[in-house]
Formats: sequence, C-alpha cells, structure tokens
Amino acid sequence: MDYSKLRFSTRQIHAGLDHTPETGARGAAIYPTAAYRFKTCDHAARLFELSEAGNIYTRLQNPTNSAYEERIAALYGGVGALAVASGMSSILITVTALVEKRQNIVASPFLYGGTYNQFRHSLRKLGIDVRIAATESAADIEKLIDDNTRAVYVESMGNPTCNVPDLEPIAAVAHRHGVPFIVDNTFGAAGYLCNPFDWGADIIVDSATKWINGHGTAMGGIIVDGGRFDWANGKFLQLSTPDESYHGLVYTDAFGPAAFIAKCRTGGLRDFGCCPSPFDSYLMMLGLETLSLRVRHEVESTRRLAEYLKAHPKVKKVSYVGFEDHPSHETAKKYYRFGASAVLNVELKGNIDTTVRFVEALELAAHMTMIGDSITVVTHPASTTHKQLSEADLEAAGVTPTLLRISLGLEDVEDIIDDFEQAFSHVE
Ligand SMILES: Cc1ncc(COP(=O)(O)O)c(C=O)c1O
Repeated sequence: MDYSKLRFSTRQIHAGLDHTPETGARGAAIYPTAAYRFKTCDHAARLFELSEAGNIYTRLQNPTNSAYEERIAALYGGVGALAVASGMSSILITVTALVEKRQNIVASPFLYGGTYNQFRHSLRKLGIDVRIAATESAADIEKLIDDNTRAVYVESMGNPTCNVPDLEPIAAVAHRHGVPFIVDNTFGAAGYLCNPFDWGADIIVDSATKWINGHGTAMGGIIVDGGRFDWANGKFLQLSTPDESYHGLVYTDAFGPAAFIAKCRTGGLRDFGCCPSPFDSYLMMLGLETLSLRVRHEVESTRRLAEYLKAHPKVKKVSYVGFEDHPSHETAKKYYRFGASAVLNVELKGNIDTTVRFVEALELAAHMTMIGDSITVVTHPASTTHKQLSEADLEAAGVTPTLLRISLGLEDVEDIIDDFEQAFSHVE
C-alpha cells in the first residue's frame, strides 16, 4: 500500500502491518528468533552478498523489526529506517557510518546530556572530533565547519531547555558545505509534532524510548534516511567507493537513495551489534498506534500546567515554548505543530534544597529520568541527566542547579496540579 497518501494517525496504525490474508491476524507478529533457515547454499550466498533481500540473522534483520521500521519510515516519509537498541546507539551508528578518524561534526550546544558525553568523550577517543558551536545559530555553526566536517547535528527541540533551532538556515549551511544535516527528533514525536525532513534534514535519529513507545516499557532508537542527500559528492568514500568489508560493495550503486540506511544496517548493526529485541519492536508498534492522541493530550496538559505554575507565588521562572518570553517561541511555532511541546521547565524560588524537597514531596508525578511517558515525570537534570557535564557545558546547555524538567503524561491534568499544590506546601 502507498502509505504516503494517508494522514498521520492512519499511518501510525496501518503502516507496517502484514496485510496478507493467511492468518488474518490484526496485530503485528513477534518473531522471537535469532536465525533463519536458508533454502540452499546459493540462497545463503545471495543473502550474504546482499544481491537478494531476506533474513539472515536477527542482529541484522528480523520481521517484527522490519514491520516497525516500515511504520516509522512511513510516518517520517523517509526511504528507509533502522531500528536499534537505544537512542544513544542510533546516534553512534549514524555518526560512525559517516565520519572517520581526524574528521569532525559540528553540533548545537543544546543537547541531551548523554549525547554530550558520547560526543565529547567516546567519539573523541575514536578520533572523531565533535565541535560544539557557541550558540545554535546557523552563523555560529558555520564558523566551525571546515574541509574535514562531515555532518551538522542538532536536536529539533533541545533536552532539557526546549530550545528549537532555526532548522532551515542550518540545513542550508550544511548543504552549502556538502555535508548532511542530522536532526535528533526525539521531542518531535516521530514527526507528528515536528518532521525535520520538511525543513531540510537528511537524517533523523530518535530515542524511541520516549514518545514512540509512550509508556516507558522499552528502550529503543531509530534512524531514518530522507533519501535526498548526494553521497557521491566526493566526501563520503565509505558510501561511494568499494567497501572492503563487504566484498567490494558500493553502497550508492547497490542501494541508490537508500545507501546511507543500508550502510547503517550492514556496517553499524553488523559490527557494533546494538540491535533491538523483536518484542521491544512490537511494543514500539503498539505505542505508535496511539501516538497522535497521546501527544495532543500531553501538549494540552503542558499548557495547563505551565499556566498554573506561572501564576504560582513559589515559582521563580517557567520556561515553556508556548509562552512568548521563551527564546524559541517563534521557532517552535514555525517548526512544531500546535506551536508547543509536551515538556516544560520550571525553577522554584529558593535554592537546590528547596527544589529537592519539592521533588521528594510529589506523590503522583514520578521522580525519574524520562520523557514522553504516560506517567507525568519530574526530573532534576543537574543531579541526573546532565550530572557528568562540566560547569561550562551545563551553562551552555542551559541547565541551572534549580531547574526541573517536567514531561506531562496522560493523567487528568487537574490531578497533577493538585499533586504539585500539595508538594508546594512542603517548601517555604
Ligand atoms: C534528545 C535525546 N536524544 C537521545 C537520547 C538517548 O536515548 P536513549 O535513552 O533511548 O538511549 C535521549 C534520552 O533521553 C534524548 O532525550
């Protein structure tokens, strides 16, 4: 079926389902298998040399994972998707497929703490330099690009500050320098709130653990290939010249516009092995069926909680992209549907002790490090997600000691507001 003609909520349910009539099963099948029987030795050889598509081994491919990948590619409008074990591994596989020793990528400073660590420490140990721009502006990003740059990287909404970079001019800068624009779209809810492919992105990475799963029940990451970047421009020899580790295969010849995502599977998953469990892919597919409904509820609850907090005498500052005083109010309106997000930040009056007392007094909202869950989550980034960052990186990422990140869940928001009210009674 051509899913591109269907609207988002229809695609999130139907894309990737097996429509063959043999079983009549309504749900996606879970294939708990590590390996697959080959029909003949010739058949096995054809699969191994990639001249015939098919299942070899679940580290590379699994029918449940393929169904989920098809659904994600249909939601984003990409040429292909690859499911991996976590959001972090989606970033690792993407960057290592494109960037080699002594080359670099240029990134915005508004990044999730784990991404900072991967960029600043682990990738540097591999000889890949990650240059963090002074701000997320296209001009500051361009200042750090040189002949060895192989990608530009941003989050479509930065975790935790909810900064929304101006995607279009950044895409233009990346393309002017012949490199792809990679966007971590975890906050964009699989394209429902924001689809970076509409604004010039070439590759999307997404922590499926969050809104895609939606219920905090599984880890996962997904890479989506927009299929529009010219990999034969002379900068990406790993895609446009023979790959020794794959019998001299040239990805751009063998896979055309899907060269990058094929390389992520046959190189990244094969060598690093961070594949998802088919059971988790099933949970992702199930979560996706209600994605748009969940996100609409969460966005509305976020607005309600933001208004309540703004009027509260014990609150110092509410940082919410739906309010005009947020630095990304205009870019959020442009790039995010409904102009807002399902996450807000708040700083209470007082100090770090006041903040800790408030968090520990909450009874309904969960003190966890999570976003996009059906349970409302309150996180203290300075002591959790961003704890390993240096003072300078904390400042660049906008994380203050009293900042709380709140990700609204699916409860009746009035109950969450009541919970906050009783927690406020524990702080002066
Ligand atoms: C924006 C962003 N990218 C990547 C990740 C990493 O994803 P995972 O925890 O699934 O590895 C996270 C996790 O919170 C995130 O918020």
